Amino acid sequence: MDLSMTLAGYLARLSPRLAGIATRLIGSPFRYLSGMPMERQLLILKLPVARLAIVNDLAVVKTLLTDQEGAFPKSSDLEMLLRPLIGRGVFGQPGGDAVKQMRRVYIRALSQIPEAEVARIARHFTRQYMAAWQQAQRPVPIPSELSRLAIDIVTQATLGNCFSVQESLRFVDLFFKYHKRANPLLLLLAPREPASRQALFDSFGLEAIGAEMRALIRHRFVDPLLDEKSDARRAPFASALLASTLPSDGCGLPLDRDETRQTAMLDEISVMLLAGHETTASVLSWLLWELADLPDEQDTIGQLMREPGLGQSETVPADPDKRKNLAQRRLDALIHESLRLYPPIAFLLRETRRDVVFREKPIPANSFMLVSPWIIHRHRHLWQNPDLFDPARWLAADPPPAMANRTAFIPFGQGPRVCPGKRFADVEMQAILSELLAGCRFSRIRGRRPEPLGSLTSRPDRDFKLRVAIPQ
Ligand code: HEM
Repeated sequence: MDLSMTLAGYLARLSPRLAGIATRLIGSPFRYLSGMPMERQLLILKLPVARLAIVNDLAVVKTLLTDQEGAFPKSSDLEMLLRPLIGRGVFGQPGGDAVKQMRRVYIRALSQIPEAEVARIARHFTRQYMAAWQQAQRPVPIPSELSRLAIDIVTQATLGNCFSVQESLRFVDLFFKYHKRANPLLLLLAPREPASRQALFDSFGLEAIGAEMRALIRHRFVDPLLDEKSDARRAPFASALLASTLPSDGCGLPLDRDETRQTAMLDEISVMLLAGHETTASVLSWLLWELADLPDEQDTIGQLMREPGLGQSETVPADPDKRKNLAQRRLDALIHESLRLYPPIAFLLRETRRDVVFREKPIPANSFMLVSPWIIHRHRHLWQNPDLFDPARWLAADPPPAMANRTAFIPFGQGPRVCPGKRFADVEMQAILSELLAGCRFSRIRGRRPEPLGSLTSRPDRDFKLRVAIPQ
């Protein structure tokens, strides 16, 4: 273990005030990826209070992620870090029957939204944002604008409502602050004893930020549901949640008098909103960052996307079906490559409920098991030129060799906790990107390269701006 990590772990145990210093000292988890023997199939680190196993062996990864018996639940550290935001919402829960039931609610609600509707909403809002950028005539802060766009899309599609501009600006700003303060590494190093863990957690100062974010969500998305006659009750996720939080006999207090039910709804709406926006926004932010340095790629694909431009170049096939196919494939390749190089949920942290042995190495109960899509997607034994942003790898006649094993590409996870919003995200990202590339040219301005933040997601660590040219 690196010296700063050891020191941070020590400080974190002394007092909450020193934990603040430790947070700055320890920095982002990505810092520890360079120089570590990450190619190892199974790397077991001895932390002060537990073992941490970093798993790259795809068979072991699959065992962990597809575990049906609850032997490798999601880590309670995740729940702790997210609780101020999502309460007892499904994302943070370790597993079990309640999780299975709640996932069914998400899956049912999302399956009720036709793909064409997701695409329509995504295109509509993307055009609105582009018009605002054009009017402002200033470089655009890409991560925050795409976050606001993705929030509008997911809330409109699932809850039939959106934040006001002021609310979404505030919400995105608060979430960025939350990210910067949440420190999963420090929790990993902290003693397991509840009181000192809580003290350390309190030192992050997440409660106040989370409370303000939840107040915004409650006001805009839960309060309207209290009115029995409100149209918002018919939106796919709202109606699925209303039904699922009723007692099994179908009776109970009206929602406006049932605080417990309101809180349960607030928790899940917060999950939908947070899981459903930050991921998409992060993938697209990184993609635009990369594309801003590839003007030729932008030209080619922009031409494919713009109807009047079609057929003007030799690179564009004359046959309309082939054109569509080619355009679709180019978009897919860009999105896949961004998901590969910048998977938004870079670390999936599980725990062992009992002693286990993997690759002949014993791992005791209560160890942490880390599956990192970030590491796996950049593994040299799986991918050629893994650190290179190369969308063409997805355009060859055969898929990249790594794809012979589906576990080599897991941006949406795998198994019983796989992302229920994958289809939504695929359609949404295609729609946003095709609008953006048909209508805009992105270029970089001076400033340091963004780095992945790494606390909760791999979103860029600064709200980088790009110059956006929008032809009249
Ligand atoms: C590029 C976009 C996205 C990526 C890469 C992504 C990835 C993921 C991953 C890796 C997980 C956790 C898997 C685990 O812990 O094992 C997850 C969970 C989840 N995602 Fe997504 N996601 C995306 C978009 C979305 C969207 C658009 C929605 C909703 C419309 C959504 C809803 C959820 C929910 C509700 C969960 C929690 C499921 C559970 O706790 O079992 N996601 N996502």
